[in-house]
Amino acid sequence: MARLQLKNVNKRWGSFVGVENFDLDIADQEFLVLLGPSGCGKSTTMRMIAGLEDVTDGQILLGDKVVNDLEPKDRDISMVFQSYGLYPNLSVYENIRFPLRVRKVPKDQHHDMVMKAIAMVELEDFMDRRPAELSGGQRQRVALGRAIVRKPTVFLMDEPLSNLDAKLRVSTRAQIKNLQSKLKTTTVYVTHDQIEAMTLADRVVVMNKGKIQQVGTPTDIYDNPANTFVASFIGSPAMNLVEGRLEDGVFSADGIRVEGLPASASGNVTLGFRAEDAEIVEEEAQISAPMYSIELLGEASMITWRLAGSLVSIKTNKEYRAEIGEVVKARIPAAICHLFDTKTGERIAHG
Ligand SMILES: Nc1ncnc2c1ncn2[C@@H]1O[C@H](COP(=O)(O)OP(=O)(O)OP(=O)(O)O)[C@@H](O)[C@H]1O
Ligand SMILES: [Mg+2]
Repeated sequence: MARLQLKNVNKRWGSFVGVENFDLDIADQEFLVLLGPSGCGKSTTMRMIAGLEDVTDGQILLGDKVVNDLEPKDRDISMVFQSYGLYPNLSVYENIRFPLRVRKVPKDQHHDMVMKAIAMVELEDFMDRRPAELSGGQRQRVALGRAIVRKPTVFLMDEPLSNLDAKLRVSTRAQIKNLQSKLKTTTVYVTHDQIEAMTLADRVVVMNKGKIQQVGTPTDIYDNPANTFVASFIGSPAMNLVEGRLEDGVFSADGIRVEGLPASASGNVTLGFRAEDAEIVEEEAQISAPMYSIELLGEASMITWRLAGSLVSIKTNKEYRAEIGEVVKARIPAAICHLFDTKTGERIAHG
């Protein structure tokens, strides 16, 4: 168990910057999730922590020790790879046992340790099969079992659920959360799925184009996104963002007008609010515009308008009915609004 620190870590290939000034202190036993779109540098960051990729600049510390120059096998880290990385000619049992052989764990302890890991990932019935004889979900669990067979200082998990179907993903997600709370091992977990990040993380690091956009608890990131990138990445649906003008605390754009916002800012701003925080009303509305679409989600209906070039959605009760093109009104209280600088995307204020 240990604290993991990345101090101004950079990765460059020639002039291409893969990861830029990644600076983060991960606490002992923390479950940290790296979240961001494809190509933002998540795997590269993990691979540097694991020692599979050289650090161009900066330091990585495991406990109090700089590990930049340590071989992967000398860092006490287990990694679950984005693409399983199983040995095709070894059985499930031998795949899971493999790290014990590499790390020269005394042989007489192997069986107990392997069986414990196999039980944790529920593969008792598949021990003798080879990876080719397993489903994607079972292979993924072999990869997990291999990571947890010994108790490393740090777990690195790179999209460990990406090959599972939606249902299995939810149950395996719960299993990982449960495992981590039992094992209490510092974990860095990569995903591009914001729901996975929100449900698993103690803290989330949102990345884009090699740079950290925001670090915070899931609630922080959801309630106070630092910029429009984070706002548009977190939540389903993502936060509504409408570009317009702010003058004397009044935001206006085509079809929407919100009063009572901070008067300290003005000019071109982007107004943000969440679909579930607004409501359909008959009068005293901030939005009054023809409805663009209505979708039944099951537990609710989603009403969408097209305002100032953006699609804006709010949730309402599932019984709500209106025709496309009909004027529909909504209340957007200033208190639920977020303001961002349209040019930089940075947060200006909370309504
Ligand atoms: N060996 C390499 N040489 C040059 N560029 C690389 C190399 N490896 C990765 N990159 C680039 O670095 C960027 C970050 O890659 P990385 O694999 O870290 O992304 P990621 O966030 O894990 O994405 P994904 O969600 O698709 O797995 C990408 O633009 C990628 O093309
Ligand atoms: Mg990746």
